[in-house]
Amino acid sequence: MSAANITVDLRQMILAIENAVSLVGMNDTNHGKRVGYIALQMSQFLGFSRAETFFIYELGLLHDCGVSSDTVHSHLANLFDWEMSDIHCHIGYDLLHKFKPLERMALPILYHHTPWVDLQKQSISPFNKRVANLIFIADRIDITAAPHYGPNILLHVDSIKKSIAEKQGTYFNPEFVEVFLKISIPEAFWLALENRHIERFAWAMGGRGDSDRITLTDLKQLAKIFAYIVDQKSPFTAQHSYSVALISRRIAELYGFSDTETIKIEVAAYLHDIGKLHIPDNILDKNGPLSPTERAIINQHSYETYEILRLVSGLEEIALWASYHHDNDLGTGYPFHPTKEALPIPAKIIAVADVFQALLQDRPYRKGMTLEEAVGILEEMKNKGKLDSEIVSLVQNDAEHCFNLARMEISLEELLG
Ligand SMILES: [Fe+2]
Ligand SMILES: [Fe+2]
Ligand SMILES: [Fe+2]
Repeated sequence: MSAANITVDLRQMILAIENAVSLVGMNDTNHGKRVGYIALQMSQFLGFSRAETFFIYELGLLHDCGVSSDTVHSHLANLFDWEMSDIHCHIGYDLLHKFKPLERMALPILYHHTPWVDLQKQSISPFNKRVANLIFIADRIDITAAPHYGPNILLHVDSIKKSIAEKQGTYFNPEFVEVFLKISIPEAFWLALENRHIERFAWAMGGRGDSDRITLTDLKQLAKIFAYIVDQKSPFTAQHSYSVALISRRIAELYGFSDTETIKIEVAAYLHDIGKLHIPDNILDKNGPLSPTERAIINQHSYETYEILRLVSGLEEIALWASYHHDNDLGTGYPFHPTKEALPIPAKIIAVADVFQALLQDRPYRKGMTLEEAVGILEEMKNKGKLDSEIVSLVQNDAEHCFNLARMEISLEELLG
């Protein structure tokens, strides 16, 4: 196994986060891609520099990284101005302001639902005020247009424009409203927002090869941000990804992996359940047995993880380790059924850490188990061949330590510290 350090394409990671967050609420995929596209078109017309327009596109992709739950998503999508919208702005700010490669996005995200008149009272730079309001108007254009995407979009353009123009000078910078009214005259502006086209546009942006690449250290920090987003989805999975990563790191060390490989395994563990953003809240939080349909939906999540991560340049191996965490040597897991030889050890480590942490954590339908009970279940699964016996033995011999890692509580500040 190579011990070489890796670098990862940052814009493709941003697109991966957007893809993950877009799965929340499922009925409105590609919101971030459309906001990025609209803000990009407007910023080009407004004369922002080339580098700034790329920054604004990426900001549009990420502006809703503070939204993990369907309820928050549906309020933001259905109300023009929702009194609790500032919560997701604060979460987005908290997630990004300490992460060097994206820290410039934190303030515009904090103010991306602040009306233009109120923004004037804030002590932030003129650039941040403009960019925050540019994202706000692009966001509201998409939300106003969203019910009409499809063959009839052009029939609704006048009413969308009217509703945005009514907010000129109050919600939105007057200049931005003027620009929007101009650039939205060509039909092409609206047709480009269709799902098929906006996905191709994002795909092309991700493939340009002119993005920064981040190191493994930054990748680990970004993976923690992903983990926080997915763990916030349900009160019952709070800290799950984080704890699974700590346990996976511990097992990797005990197994004898190098420092670099250990960090890669930890990163894969932070990311393993990112596909859970696709699952409706009411299934994840269900207090009772799942119906066959609900079970079938849950079992799609590790494939969703794969789809979100697999195209990020530099992340190929980690994407596989993360996505194989419900597969096993017998081929009775899901969703890939690899041969025994094709199932990598890091994936087996994450699988053991995942089961162990989940058993110890309270779930909507049962209390968390004691250490003895959890170790007993690991033993049973090992004997049935569903978990790797060598890895289970490592956990059994280090049970107290792994137990403490599984139950460790940590604040967002500490997580991103
Ligand atoms: Fe938004
Ligand atoms: Fe999972
Ligand atoms: Fe998990």
